[in-house]
Amino acid sequence: MRKKVSIIGAGNVGASLAQLIAHSGLADVMLFDIAESMPQGKALDISEACPLWGSSSFVRGTNDYQDTECSDVIVITAGFPRRPGMSRDDLLYANAEVVRESASRVVGVSPNAVIIVVTNPMDVMTQLAWQASGFPTRRVIGMGGVLDSARLRTFVAWELGVSPADVEAMVLGGHGDEMLPLPRFTTVKGVPIATLLDSTRVEGLIGRARNGGAEIVGLLKHGSACYAPAAAAFQMAKAVLLDEKRLLPCSAYLDGQYGIIGLYAGVPVIIGKEGVERIVELKLDEAEMKALEKSARSIKALIEKLEGR
Ligand code: LAC
Repeated sequence: MRKKVSIIGAGNVGASLAQLIAHSGLADVMLFDIAESMPQGKALDISEACPLWGSSSFVRGTNDYQDTECSDVIVITAGFPRRPGMSRDDLLYANAEVVRESASRVVGVSPNAVIIVVTNPMDVMTQLAWQASGFPTRRVIGMGGVLDSARLRTFVAWELGVSPADVEAMVLGGHGDEMLPLPRFTTVKGVPIATLLDSTRVEGLIGRARNGGAEIVGLLKHGSACYAPAAAAFQMAKAVLLDEKRLLPCSAYLDGQYGIIGLYAGVPVIIGKEGVERIVELKLDEAEMKALEKSARSIKALIEKLEGR
């Protein structure tokens, strides 16, 4: 059976993701946006590239949620992007409405899908999407850690003059200013970076990764990152579609793991066809645990702000 991915929001992240999926030939794509004729235009453009890529993916644009029916994966990218000087959290109220509406509309026609949330502030939006969907927690996942880890991998690779493909990194916590890159779990082909770089350099690279989204917003002046976020969402969607059982840092619902209850936050998970198939509990040291708790508290504070508490 052909697989289907629906992408809600045909902005830069949504359209880049549609392109990655079509290029890989992994699934058909339904690109949804409320802007009239825009997703149709982008989908047509991508469709016309498929013969050149040797891809059999079928790509369509729509303004009608009904067309997203029977999706295997739904990626929610819809919402307002950051402008220079804004944190991801500044988007809270505007994007909450968009994500609630999108999540509640898609589930009616794709009751078995896995939802991947990209919209910021991502962990909070994932929690909202889960609440609005009525889905089991495993089938609603947030994209943050894969992107933040990719940024750290890039900077470590540049610093050491090695291929980013040989660098592994783990970033936990919220996809926000309190995110928690873990140098102990960042390696070059299994060699911990602490043995390759002094601690000041490591701190510098971590700081840059933590600020990675804002650095791009500052450079672009209008809009925010799209290529790496789309590549990160693609890796997660692929893990679901092919039931890969990938170990990826994602925002998942915690029910006591890491001492956190009733909250979405970034942790290592195994992703397969069911969505989050398992949460992996790393043995964190005291400082790491404290930092994760702090990050979780800042996610919780935003949820409470949204609920007017
Ligand atoms: C970023 C946005 C996608 O980190 O949150 O660039």
